[in-house]
Amino acid sequence: MKKYCVIGYPVSHSLSPKLFNAAFKKKRIFAKYELAEVAPRDFGKFMRNFAVNFAGANVTIPYKEKVIKYLDEVSDEARKIGAVNVIVNGGGKLIGHNTDVYGAISALKTGAKILKGKNVVVLGAGGAARAVVYGLKKAGAHILILNRTLAHAKKLALDFKCEFDGLQNFAINKCDILINTTSVGMWEEKVKGQRSKVKSLYKNATPLPDLKKQLAATQKLPIVMDIIYRPRMTKFLRDAKSAGCKIITGDKMFLAQAEKSFRLWTATPISLKILPR
Ligand code: ATR
Repeated sequence: MKKYCVIGYPVSHSLSPKLFNAAFKKKRIFAKYELAEVAPRDFGKFMRNFAVNFAGANVTIPYKEKVIKYLDEVSDEARKIGAVNVIVNGGGKLIGHNTDVYGAISALKTGAKILKGKNVVVLGAGGAARAVVYGLKKAGAHILILNRTLAHAKKLALDFKCEFDGLQNFAINKCDILINTTSVGMWEEKVKGQRSKVKSLYKNATPLPDLKKQLAATQKLPIVMDIIYRPRMTKFLRDAKSAGCKIITGDKMFLAQAEKSFRLWTATPISLKILPR
């Protein structure tokens, strides 16, 4: 039986095992998908043994960039983005792809028909942000990257010729579309050996604590998207919705990138429309 996994830390919140195991069953493919919660100190060893253990994987926080050095090949797009979220094991040869960019842009287009010329504020500068920024840039948007660690924002901004600033300097004016790519607000369950974030903490965690106040003071409301899909309604999206913004939930991007991942592993198209329970 072929084995697949999602590699991350923490990763226990991931719905990928349920989603892909159901998909394999539906398409009558004899395969199993599991969680691979790999602590940073074990990541190198895990990746060196990957090819003998798995036929493919998804890669998530915090490994989308770090995984590249363990791969034999990287698709053109993933190389340009500088982040990999899908691995295909082709007869022992590990190939990295990026389906986040497709997922992010398809999700965005469900709410924002035109991206060209729009002022987009991207919160975060990690692996997911790289895919979002790459896709937006290609679509002709003007991008401002805001991040907690300014040096990370600067690097991403230089790579893709965008503007950047600290997360604390967020200002709603001149923002048509606002996207959260940080992990703030994500449901984190227990990380092995460590009683990590308590469930109630994520409920009120948001990358922009004063978003509500700023939205109340602006004339033109932005379209607001979160790439977190668990919970589906993050505090960030709840604040935006209560102020009257059109919102795009993270399940849209998650499902779209998953459709593409599945196709890369199995060469079988699949339509994934709802999150598993
Ligand atoms: P991914 O590959 O999924 O994007 P990542 O590369 O670990 O994951 O990036 C996580 C992003 O969330 C980063 O932009 C990170 O900010 P830093 O560059 O300052 O680390 C952001 N992030 C994580 N925790 C945060 C927090 N508590 N407050 C603000 N930003 C946070």
